[in-house]
Amino acid sequence: MATIALNRPSVRNAQRPAMWAAMAQFLASLDDAVRIVVVRGNGGTFSAGLDLALLDPAQVDQEGSLVAIVQKSDQEIVDQIGDYQQAFALLADPKFISIAAVNGHAIGAGFQLALACDQRIATEDAQFCMKEPALGLVPDLGGTKPLVEAVGYGRALEICASARMVKAAEAHCIGLVQSVVPPHALDDAVTAAVRSLTAHGPSAVRAIKALLQQAPHRGSEEQRLGERMAQVDQLRELATRHR
Ligand code: ACO
Repeated sequence: MATIALNRPSVRNAQRPAMWAAMAQFLASLDDAVRIVVVRGNGGTFSAGLDLALLDPAQVDQEGSLVAIVQKSDQEIVDQIGDYQQAFALLADPKFISIAAVNGHAIGAGFQLALACDQRIATEDAQFCMKEPALGLVPDLGGTKPLVEAVGYGRALEICASARMVKAAEAHCIGLVQSVVPPHALDDAVTAAVRSLTAHGPSAVRAIKALLQQAPHRGSEEQRLGERMAQVDQLRELATRHR
């Protein structure tokens, strides 16, 4: 198991591009033996999202300033955001199952980081907010797709357009989080989830994660073909093991 702990508690784990780069590098370098990646925030809050200093015209010289970025061409901005998205995309790697352990707030980029994970375990006091529209932005760290997949288009639009806080109980009700636990029980809940998700051999679980990821984008026949092909690999692996 590997853990990514956001560690800027004094600013509620506000995120900066350097953190995304470090996360991407870490995820890309993980050993094949790692089956679970847990993402959490130190200090009582998952993440208050983008570091607001990056939107401050008075701090335009800061690395990653979004005020400065508009000096670039459209393509350069697109490419730059593409780099930022890497860490979030890598959390979907079928090699492992990613779990967001969410306490306190998950706002904006923090919400998107939680959405990038395969599973979300939240504390009873957790709150989620897609704050970007309130700042004149769109969520651009890969969060729109998993949000729609988790709660459906209508609810996703309402949550984004209103930029309202979604409390843990509602998040559980609408399928945004898999479980809600008292704050003191978060670590135990993560441990139990890790145990359950690694109870069986890695090969079939990895293949299933890939199949489930592909399911929404494929027609029924194409998905059945995908299942057959994945099963060929599993059967061959079983045969080798029993030889
Ligand atoms: N960026 C930079 N600093 C932040 C951020 C942030 N996103 N969030 C909080 N901080 C800082 C505060 O400025 C404050 O600093 P100070 O101690 O120097 O005054 C410190 O963290 C503590 O913040 P509080 O607001 O006092 O903490 P509290 O626990 O009361 O509230 C909450 C937490 C709800 C997360 C609140 O801080 C907040 O709303 N933050 C802004 C959230 C936001 O708009 N994020 C951007 C979303 S859009 C995107 O991510 C693309």
